[in-house]
Amino acid sequence: MLNYQRIQNSEFRIQNFTNSMRFKRHTVTAALPYANGPVHIGHLAGCYLPADIYVRYLRLKGEDVKFICGSDEHGVPITIKAKKEGITPQQVVDKYHKMMKDSFEEFGISFDIYSRTSSKIHHETASEFFKTLYDKKVFTEEITEQYFDEKANQFLADRYIIGTCPKCQNENAYGDQCEKCGSTLSPTDLINPKSTLSGEKPVLRKTKNWFLPLDKMQPQIEKYIESHKDWKVNVYGQCKSWLDQKLQPRAMTRDLDWGVKVPVKDAEGKVLYVWFDAPIGYISATKELLPNDWKKYWQDKETRLIHFIGKDNIVFHCIIFPAMLMAHGDYILADNVPANEFLNLEGDKISTSRNWAVWLHEYLIDFPNKQDVLRYSLTANAPETKDNDFTWKDFQMKNNSELVAILGNFVNRTVVLTQKFFEGKVPPAEEFTKADVLLMEEISRFPQKISASIEAFRFREALAEMMNLARIGNKYLAENEPWKLSDQKRVGTILNICLQVCANIAVLAEPFLPNMCVNLSSILGIGKLNWRDGGRTDILKTGHPLGIAKLLFEKIEDDVIEKQVAKLLATKPKIENVKSETQMATIDDFKKLDIQVGKIIEALDFPEAKKPAYKLKIDFGKEIGIKNSSAQITKNYTKEQLKGKLILAVVNFPPRKVGPFISEVLTLGVPDKNNETILVEPGKDAEVGGKLS
Ligand code: MF3
Ligand code: ZN
Repeated sequence: MLNYQRIQNSEFRIQNFTNSMRFKRHTVTAALPYANGPVHIGHLAGCYLPADIYVRYLRLKGEDVKFICGSDEHGVPITIKAKKEGITPQQVVDKYHKMMKDSFEEFGISFDIYSRTSSKIHHETASEFFKTLYDKKVFTEEITEQYFDEKANQFLADRYIIGTCPKCQNENAYGDQCEKCGSTLSPTDLINPKSTLSGEKPVLRKTKNWFLPLDKMQPQIEKYIESHKDWKVNVYGQCKSWLDQKLQPRAMTRDLDWGVKVPVKDAEGKVLYVWFDAPIGYISATKELLPNDWKKYWQDKETRLIHFIGKDNIVFHCIIFPAMLMAHGDYILADNVPANEFLNLEGDKISTSRNWAVWLHEYLIDFPNKQDVLRYSLTANAPETKDNDFTWKDFQMKNNSELVAILGNFVNRTVVLTQKFFEGKVPPAEEFTKADVLLMEEISRFPQKISASIEAFRFREALAEMMNLARIGNKYLAENEPWKLSDQKRVGTILNICLQVCANIAVLAEPFLPNMCVNLSSILGIGKLNWRDGGRTDILKTGHPLGIAKLLFEKIEDDVIEKQVAKLLATKPKIENVKSETQMATIDDFKKLDIQVGKIIEALDFPEAKKPAYKLKIDFGKEIGIKNSSAQITKNYTKEQLKGKLILAVVNFPPRKVGPFISEVLTLGVPDKNNETILVEPGKDAEVGGKLS
């Protein structure tokens, strides 16, 4: 056997100079979720989980970091929810704020503060911010025509109005955004606008609002974006396309009564635009956390500000909020905005209103102590560069074939063998083979590799790299088969190395699987480690007693998964009402049907028919003349009543045999309250032979 020295770690651990080290401290924010529904897996995958991984990593490196979040409690989504539930907006936000805060906490999203925008400190901070811009004469005052609902007696901002998107013809586009094509809109862009309050067509009324002149700020903003070509392509690309289309002034106030009151005169009945007040929520939450110290997290150039968001928030965090901060003058700007794409669920878009989601609070009940399984499957599938899909089958597979079979199995075998052969104490390792040394070298490179991926906001890659550590440990154990060896010294060396791999996992997996790491540390009998300990193969000293063995992960059986799928499918009927794209008809489909006005000239009994029916003779005029049709309408009409009636029928279906009779056209009917057919009548002025269009 070759006799190698144990690696001196420092020789192999590549000096790890990373982006985050250019800064003295970090302010990391995660988008403030609207307090209008519980947290679901789409929220987690989109921003809270990547933000949490990033922050845990920085903390492990001993960096000074504050992780800021809270509930976004203003804006139309809240007031609409209140109306729907028949409660006040305050009751809505109280209910959901608590729910979200509790489930984030139980799930282990490690915010330093989870605040809310209905708090006093936020109202003061947002007001003051607005007042500063107002006093600096940043805003332009403009009287514009805004939609007003005369029935509900109020102006209709943003989501209070729906209509047809001018870009993609989606009929359910909102006044501020079309969710189908992603365009940002203003209510007056919509074709056929309708109030969501009353369903009425709104009227235009004059009103005064304060605008942020983004058009004039374009050069500064352009300079800012151009200095960040390092941002994720989806983020940089969206910013570019906004800038290419030229920025427009944007109203920072709204005619609404729920929100932060506009703190200037002549502004009764107006509040700050929710996208003005909400990002300031990051600042007020930091103030609440650090009343005396908050400024250095927001105003010192040596602080790195990072916003984690979902893709629908890009323009607000990359253009509008920075513009506000620039206009104010005292603040630093975000150094990066790592936005994710969306997560779908079993092939369908996640939706709070359609109840198509896996809700975090329910997951925590159904899968107690399995926070890390969800963290793992969401991170392994993170929608970092494109939309991605969560399926329960994949969740089960990730647990059973990766967490249980690779990571859990490796740790368990190592610990059990150490107990069996060395009474649970770390055996000495003195003589190494070449393969041992290569393995130790490889281990020493892991922290650097994982760091590089995390710092580039590639968390899937970072997680996969972390799992490789468990994989190579497993492979090493399988290849060396210590249970078959008689040389105790050699067995000891192999297990020592495997135990060092376990200790490395206990450090390097912490950002991803923090609960597993607590358990693993207790199994190994060690306390909390730092990122700096990663890569070392002497973390566990010879003779160190291990703690008590237990399984890190357990198999998830099919019936558990089937139950979850069934629970989801139970909400499907609701979803079927909203026709999916493949079920939609196009205008061309419709045009294929030739539906014409006909006059019934005769109705006869039809005794041969299986169900009671009449034979009708219908005149369609010059073009196609008289046609036969069978119709099951005997309950509602006598033959005499039918004679002379104008009806509608599809005249270009292939003729159909009904018993001995050929029915040539399909007469149109609708059910009455007893589910008996009544005829569709086009009205007395309709022309025979006239075509439906
Ligand atoms: N509530 C918004 C959403 O869910 C996000 C607000 S982020 C903030 O899309 F910056 F404005 F706070
Ligand atoms: Zn559209």
